[in-house]
Amino acid sequence: MADYEASNRSLSGKVALVTGAARGIGVEISRKLAALGAHVIVGARDLKKAQVVAAGLRAHGGEASALKLDVTREEDRKAAYEAIAAAHGKLDILINNAGILLDSPDGGTPAPRQPSQTLPSVLGETFEVNFFAPIFLTQLLLPLLQRSDAPRVVNVSSIRGSLAHLSDPASPVYPVRALGYDTSKAALNAFTILIAEELRGTPIKINAIHPGWVKTEMGGGQAPVSIEEGARTAIRYATLGEDGPTGGFFFLDERLPW
Ligand SMILES: NC(=O)c1ccc[n+]([C@@H]2O[C@H](COP(=O)([O-])OP(=O)(O)OC[C@H]3O[C@@H](n4cnc5c(N)ncnc54)[C@H](OP(=O)(O)O)[C@@H]3O)[C@@H](O)[C@H]2O)c1
Repeated sequence: MADYEASNRSLSGKVALVTGAARGIGVEISRKLAALGAHVIVGARDLKKAQVVAAGLRAHGGEASALKLDVTREEDRKAAYEAIAAAHGKLDILINNAGILLDSPDGGTPAPRQPSQTLPSVLGETFEVNFFAPIFLTQLLLPLLQRSDAPRVVNVSSIRGSLAHLSDPASPVYPVRALGYDTSKAALNAFTILIAEELRGTPIKINAIHPGWVKTEMGGGQAPVSIEEGARTAIRYATLGEDGPTGGFFFLDERLPW
């Protein structure tokens, strides 16, 4: 098994942007990146919440700044580009973590509206956050990423975006059938493949990851994985060495089926 462990790699001098970083897995990803020495830009749609997280990272000796970033708002995305360009002139790590689940109250509850009844608003809003936003943000920030000598993009997807799992009655995700969420993550996976293949042969590495079923507001109380554990896969693919993969879909070291 390849060793993609982050533990001994220092991120000193690196600049990382984490979206949806005011709670859940995004906070923990931010903490770990800061602990590894990166300057972490904590992105959240509520600036005050981002400031609280960034202050906490600095209180623990990390380097961090706060950014108001509703990923669905073009003006916020453009302002993010301007702010990062002015302050750092480059971006080394982009974690597209912000996400929503509208089909059901949490990840442990089957969608009350099955695919034949999913509301257009659920599909539309979910795709805005989970699919269009990471595409637009990545496209916009690509010139800054390309100023890094080892740019890494992690798209926080889900095993529920795996067509192989959705169609396998033996898969734990098979009975859930959350049309909005599941298809938005499948589409995010397709974006990951297409842009990674476009940029293959350049230093950038872009991968989709599944964090596990994590005990956050989205994951719900039945989720078996702690938030700390839930950040591990994102960190691993944010800190890949030159020999690491691109255009893949992973949970820890395991390559997941599309
Ligand atoms: N938890 C799991 O079991 C699980 C499993 C597979 C994949 N994932 C994925 O992991 C990622 C993180 O999920 P989580 O479990 O940490 O969920 P969470 O606790 O519900 O947190 C979601 C985060 O996304 C942010 N967000 C939502 N809409 C946004 C927008 N328009 N602009 C900016 N930020 C926005 C939220 O910000 P606010 O605080 O402003 O609402 C929040 O910080 C998501 O992409 C999710 O799909 C989670």
